[in-house]
Amino acid sequence: MVILQQTISAVTLHKESNLVIITISMTILGIETSCDETSAAVVRDGKLLSNDTAVQLFHSEHGGVVPELASRAHQRIIIPIVEDALRKASVEKKDLDAIAAVYGPGLIGSILIGLSFGKAMAMGLGIPFIGVNHMEAHIFSNMIEEPKPSFPFVNLTVSGGHTQLVLVKDYFKSELLGETMDDAAGEAFDKVAKMLGVGYPGGPLVDKFAAKGNAKAVKFPRPYLEEGSHQFSFSGLKTSVLYYLRKVGFDKTANVNEQFIADVCASFQAAVVDVLIDKLLTAAKKYDVKDIAMCGGVSANSELRRRLETEAKINHLHLFIPKLDFCTDNGAMVAQAGYERLRKGFVSNLELTAEPNLQLN
Ligand SMILES: Nc1ncnc2c1ncn2[C@@H]1O[C@H](COP(=O)(O)OP(=O)(O)OP(=O)(O)O)[C@@H](O)[C@H]1O
Ligand SMILES: [Mg+2]
Repeated sequence: MVILQQTISAVTLHKESNLVIITISMTILGIETSCDETSAAVVRDGKLLSNDTAVQLFHSEHGGVVPELASRAHQRIIIPIVEDALRKASVEKKDLDAIAAVYGPGLIGSILIGLSFGKAMAMGLGIPFIGVNHMEAHIFSNMIEEPKPSFPFVNLTVSGGHTQLVLVKDYFKSELLGETMDDAAGEAFDKVAKMLGVGYPGGPLVDKFAAKGNAKAVKFPRPYLEEGSHQFSFSGLKTSVLYYLRKVGFDKTANVNEQFIADVCASFQAAVVDVLIDKLLTAAKKYDVKDIAMCGGVSANSELRRRLETEAKINHLHLFIPKLDFCTDNGAMVAQAGYERLRKGFVSNLELTAEPNLQLN
């Protein structure tokens, strides 16, 4: 049996019915360490009190995330990050009612740091532990602040490792409509950035260059796949960028033309954005929803945000995109998912282990 040590936040008398209403307050610490961000957040009664994130920028020297280094960095920073999140929320450890941490998907060494830390802290404090699916948490990034989407809605998750279209029917009831068969959208951005030698992390840099480029300069393919398909495929598009660069004799080590890079970035980005928007709108129409949402690191892309805002207006859809802090990995989305799980009485066994390939459903 799980005993929730929840704090009574208010006791009020409802005059008409002469009933005493006891308001239970729930304070949750959320921990995120699935890849290269160490993040902790505190949510009380569904309201975000703090969110503290450490980004491991040193991976840029290696051109991508080095798993071993990522887990070592999580280990070094997790205690200061958790302490900072508690301090900023003005919450003491004894005030916590539960701890939530991601148990997958992601890099096993990274997940294990946050998961083991969260479980040990919950055990030490004698409070429940809640294991959170990282992909479910990304969807919750649109439920951290008001306004929140209404169920059912179609969600597009576009991150470094995933591209998923999800019909979200309720908090913990969703249907995966489609996903990428090869590269994730963020991965394609990162690989194209690497080909162009613009640096790491690639997505934000391609976005920056694209803003100065001509999206019609190069006609890259739009991988829509068969009519009405909810699946994605970005590896062919990435390869066509590579073939184009070879064809024109591009050498990233030479003194390169910035306008050329900007044009390739803008043209590649336009192809990704066209496909993502088309598939999100097609799913919204098919499932007859009024609300659509986007989350994950690529949802920070300025052109994607701008175009989707326009398309949502044209199609009379309510669009939800998280603020930039909540697009990439963050503890707030984990704390919020943990809060909703606790409200529904879902808590995890302390034997829960890391699942690097955890699926959404
Ligand atoms: N402005 C941007 N434009 C395009 N892509 C971006 C932008 N900002 C970030 N990204 C991309 O987002 C990705 C990181 O997002 P996120 O942190 O959500 O992924 P992840 O957590 O590593 O992957 P997953 O959630 O699938 O496990 C990277 O691929 C990065 O290049
Ligand atoms: Mg992520």
